[in-house]
Amino acid sequence: MTILLTGGTGYIASHTAVTLLEAGHQVVLFDNLCNSQRDVVARIEQITGKAPVFVEGDIRDTQLLRTTLDQHGCDSVIHFAGLKAVGESVAKPILYYANNVQGTISLLQAMEAAGTRTLVFSSSATVYGEPKYLPFDESHPTGATNPYGRTKLHIEEMLKDVCASDSSWRVSCLRYFNPVGAHPSGLIGEDPQGIPNNLMPFVAKVATGELEAIGIFGSDYPTADGTGVRDYIHVMDLAEGHLAGLRFLRDHTGWHAFNLGTGQGYSVLDLVAAFERACGKQLQRKMLPRRPGDIASSYANSAKAESELGWRGTRSLDDMCQSTWKWQSSK
Ligand code: NAD
Ligand code: UFG
Repeated sequence: MTILLTGGTGYIASHTAVTLLEAGHQVVLFDNLCNSQRDVVARIEQITGKAPVFVEGDIRDTQLLRTTLDQHGCDSVIHFAGLKAVGESVAKPILYYANNVQGTISLLQAMEAAGTRTLVFSSSATVYGEPKYLPFDESHPTGATNPYGRTKLHIEEMLKDVCASDSSWRVSCLRYFNPVGAHPSGLIGEDPQGIPNNLMPFVAKVATGELEAIGIFGSDYPTADGTGVRDYIHVMDLAEGHLAGLRFLRDHTGWHAFNLGTGQGYSVLDLVAAFERACGKQLQRKMLPRRPGDIASSYANSAKAESELGWRGTRSLDDMCQSTWKWQSSK
């Protein structure tokens, strides 16, 4: 298969590109480089020994997408491109709707014109909003609590409508929990610009000495140690989840949603302890008030992905921290 990866040089897409190339597929990476670096392309080649095609462009450029799909004979698309910072989406909702929702409409128009009808979409557990029960399964009511999350929900709904209108479409919405970790080579990983919003990259920068102390947002949650609990999923497990998601669509038309998580929740303190084991030093921490909008706990029921995709996240929290540390410390 030849697969177009929008947002192809980004964090999750670059790891997925490695998995797809190693499984014998061709990949075309399409990215405007607003949150990633061009040298990722060479690093993917260094890991796999195979050169991915790279096209620099914006997903709102429907014509360029159409030409790219045609020129490379892409039979499916994995749609990673998007802006993802929750706080920024509250401050700049128009930017988020324009990039994420308008960008997806442009992609769907290009796919329709090119006759490419198979799509895997990077969705998020954020579409579940406040938990009515845990673990989250795919039937849990949806209801995002910020503009970023609402872009994911709008896109999911749009994709449902497209599938309902034409039975030749095949769409999997993969609802990621908390992707972390890096490729074991240490050549690619998550590289946020500025001060990271998310826990793992923040902890990693404290370990390298770039930041002084880990701020822990809340120690009075109704969890075992009072800190927030999340379902951290190794990015290489996630990458394999995309391959499984594509394989599933070979035999299934219509719209489908799958949770990609391990089903195991870890607290902020659990993750910090695992990172200390990985880097072999104690990390400074300070307790801070809760971060507005955070929920106490989030973790997946991944039974559907296991039974229908034949996929399960297997890598441990220690693997996630060790690979992050290898990537950060070798940069
Ligand atoms: P990332 O920022 O590393 O990758 C996204 C890529 O998309 C970047 O390379 C960026 O340059 C590109 N991009 C953004 N807007 C574009 C546009 N208009 N045209 C072309 N390229 C564009 O982020 P990531 O963590 O790899 O996330 C990938 C996807 O997964 C996103 O859609 C994100 O919302 C979703 N997701 C991420 C997480 C997470 O915690 N990392 C969790 C759930 C869902
Ligand atoms: N946390 C801290 N200190 C930090 C950063 C985070 O204590 O500096 C805590 C948070 O309060 C939370 C946990 O660490 O309890 C995880 O926070 P992250 O910011 O790493 O992740 P979130 O669960 O808040 O959100 C992430 C992505 C969202 C996505 C969601 C579900 O940022 O885009 O996972 O996939 F929607």
